Amino acid sequence: MLIPALIEHKRDGGRLAPAVWHTLVRDYVAGRVPDYQMSALLMAVFFRGLEADELAALTDAMIDSGDRLRFDGHPVPIADKHSTGGVGDKVSLLLAPLVASCGVAVPMMSGRGLGHTGGTLDKLESIPGFRTDLSLEQARAQIDRLGCAMLGQTPEIAPADKRLYALRDVTGTVESIPLISASIMSKKLAEGLNGLVLDVKTGSGAFLKDIARSIELARAMIGLGETRGCPTVALLTAMDRPLGRACGNALEVEEAIEGLRGSGPSDLLEVTYALGAEMLVLVGAARTAAEARQRMEEAITSGRALETFARVIEAQGGNPRVVEDPGVLPQARAVEVFRADRAGVVAAVEPRRIGRAIVELGGGRNAVEDTVDPTVGFVITVKPGDLVRAGEPIASVFARDDAGVALGMTALREAVAIGDAGRLTALVSHRITARGVEVLPEDV
Ligand code: URA
Repeated sequence: MLIPALIEHKRDGGRLAPAVWHTLVRDYVAGRVPDYQMSALLMAVFFRGLEADELAALTDAMIDSGDRLRFDGHPVPIADKHSTGGVGDKVSLLLAPLVASCGVAVPMMSGRGLGHTGGTLDKLESIPGFRTDLSLEQARAQIDRLGCAMLGQTPEIAPADKRLYALRDVTGTVESIPLISASIMSKKLAEGLNGLVLDVKTGSGAFLKDIARSIELARAMIGLGETRGCPTVALLTAMDRPLGRACGNALEVEEAIEGLRGSGPSDLLEVTYALGAEMLVLVGAARTAAEARQRMEEAITSGRALETFARVIEAQGGNPRVVEDPGVLPQARAVEVFRADRAGVVAAVEPRRIGRAIVELGGGRNAVEDTVDPTVGFVITVKPGDLVRAGEPIASVFARDDAGVALGMTALREAVAIGDAGRLTALVSHRITARGVEVLPEDV
């Protein structure tokens, strides 16, 4: 294959045949296509997009680059959810044990932070001892035993995605609908699921900021799922402000545990219930969303969901006492309260600024090999539309030292705008299925 000619063809708006995509991905994983040529091709895709058959071929080639989880003859249905990435998005930590405690197996395979967004694996690893590097065999055995495993992308699952994802992160090619679709769906379709729910984040803190592009992304992923035998539904959820109050790895684990007790922030619980209801209904574990919600509420009030989380933590080497005592989590050395500088209405809490500040504080990565400080981050107690008094405490910074506190305070001054008006946009705004797009009522 003459790679420069393929890059030029794509750059000029041409289409590459499915067989070419298969060869390209295979040769890239085998080291026969260098990163610089793949980067150029990704940039061409970023600007030119992919035709439907190219997207399907790229996704299949990425799945075929590795192995699959197999659940043949499994006694309960298998479902998972995937988020396109946001700030304060700790939903997976609640949802996996919650749905598992309602009788659906959840092989929650997650990623690390990407750009300004946090990653479930980094959050879980803030629990002392917690290991996310399960093999496919270990994951399968744990799912048989507990109904749930929370793991990273194993070397066997879509290795092509792992390499392409890292390359995109450093070449400005993340925010591309076909590349995000192929990346997410190659991992999820290798999980052997009976149903998949996608949380497509939309707004200034998401990779795709406007609703039309988010719907386009959801449709592309649903198309890939449905044509490959995996019923897929997407919800569009707000990412124009952080989800919940805590942003930062250990802080988010603590908030997720609060949520599993039923006492977490209401927006976090609402998004979790909305996605969980879709999962339960999709695989036939509940007949209606209302029935699914009732079962999830019961799993929380009975303590079953929290107990499942504790058992998963223990099975994966972590200290299960964390569910009783958040003091088990590593603690920031420097903490300071941030106060409103005037009376008024919160006009914005800018998630991208908060996400970037977490990376600057050491809670995310600038380079692939960076280690993450689990203790740093923010707790922000206001949302757009809230009334505040001058001097009222509205957030806290968690940092390693005084310099980190100063950096965090600057970020909060830039991220939290107080003015004369502000409003909260719908939390769960659209439901997208293979049949079409439904605009949801505001109070869902
Ligand atoms: N999550 C993924 O798994 N891949 C992307 O490309 C973006 C978000």
